Amino acid sequence: MTPPATVRTEPDMPLLTVDDLVVDHRSPDRPPVRAVAGVDLTVAPGEVVGLVGESGCGKSTLARAICGIVRPSGGSIGFEGRPVTPLGLRRRDPALTRIQMVFQDPFASLNPRRRIGRQIADGLAEGGPTPGELLERVGLPPAMADRYPHEFSGGQRQRIAIARALAARPALLIGDEPISALDASAQAQVAGLMRTLTVESGAGLLFISHDLSVVRMIADRIAVMYLGKIVETGRTDEIWADPKHPYTRALLGAVPVPDGAGTLPAELPGDVPDPAAPPSGCRFHPRCPHAMDICSTREPAQIGGVACWLYDTAADTADTAGTAADTVAE
Ligand SMILES: Nc1ncnc2c1ncn2[C@@H]1O[C@H](COP(=O)(O)OP(=O)(O)OP(=O)(O)O)[C@@H](O)[C@H]1O
Ligand SMILES: [Mg+2]
Repeated sequence: MTPPATVRTEPDMPLLTVDDLVVDHRSPDRPPVRAVAGVDLTVAPGEVVGLVGESGCGKSTLARAICGIVRPSGGSIGFEGRPVTPLGLRRRDPALTRIQMVFQDPFASLNPRRRIGRQIADGLAEGGPTPGELLERVGLPPAMADRYPHEFSGGQRQRIAIARALAARPALLIGDEPISALDASAQAQVAGLMRTLTVESGAGLLFISHDLSVVRMIADRIAVMYLGKIVETGRTDEIWADPKHPYTRALLGAVPVPDGAGTLPAELPGDVPDPAAPPSGCRFHPRCPHAMDICSTREPAQIGGVACWLYDTAADTADTAGTAADTVAE
C-alpha cells in the first residue's frame, strides 16, 4: 500500500492516534516498570503538540513506542490510518520512515565512524535538499558535512540530528528534548525552526521538552504527563491562561516569570513515585494539595481534557468537588 498523499481531504484527521497505550519495561531481576500507563494522544497534520512532565514520567518511552522501537503491552498506535507495529530498528516498516525522531541523546543515534553528510544523505528523500542545504537550515556551515560526529559539540550534534530527521521529509517529527544541549540563546531559535520546517511541509511535530517557555512558544497544544499518564491536555494558550490539574498548576507555577526562561523544577514538593509501584487512585494524590478521599481510591477519568476528581462534577463527591474546584481556581 502506498502512503496517503500529503494533500488530505480531511485536514483535521489525526496523523497520529495513540489510544490507551501501555508500555512496560521488563528486566530480569526487577518488577516491570509501567512507564506508559494508558495514554491517549493525537497529532494532526501541521500541528505542534508539546509533551511535558517531570523526569521519568515516561515521555521518551511514549516517543519510542510511537516510532515502533519499543513494543507496547497494550493499546494501539495508528499513523496515517495504519497501525504502528514494532519490528526492531533493522527491519523497520518502510512506512515508518515517515515518522522521524530526534533522540534525547543525539550522540547515541549518530554513527561515530561515518561523516555526518553521508549520514544525512542516507535519509534523503528524492528531490529533497542536499545534506549541505539541510545543515545550513539548522544553522551549521555546509562544509561541515565532511566531519565526523566527535568533531562537534553536543549542541551541534543536536542540530545534525534535526537535519538528518528532516532529510527524510517526515510526516511526523518527534523531538525528544531536541534542544537540551543548545545554549539558551539558540534554544528558542532552533525550536522555532523545527516548528517552521515541519509545519510548512504539512507535517506534525511532537515536541518533548522540559522547557515550558519554549513549549509555550511553539506548541499549538500541550499534553502534560505524570507518571505514565496524560493528566491534562488542551490548547497551549488555554492551558497557560487557565491550567486545571493541580500538577499542571504546579508545573506552571514553577516557571519563574511568565515570559522568562522556564524549566521544570528539579523537584516539585514530594518525590516522584516509583512507576513500578504507582500510588492507588490518582497517581498524583500523594503530592496534591487538594487531594480528597476519592483521589486515593479511584482513578479519575479524563473529562474535558483534565483527569482530576476536582473537575468531575458527576462524581459521588460532586459537592466537595465543586467547592474544591472553586478553591483551586482562585
Ligand atoms: N530500558 C529501560 N528499562 C527499564 N526501565 C526503564 C527503561 N527505560 C526507561 N525506564 C524507566 O521508565 C520510566 C520512564 O522513563 P522515560 O525515559 O520514558 O522517562 P522520561 O519522561 O523520558 O524522563 P526524562 O525527562 O528524564 O528523559 C522511568 O522510571 C525509567 O526509569
Ligand atoms: Mg526522556
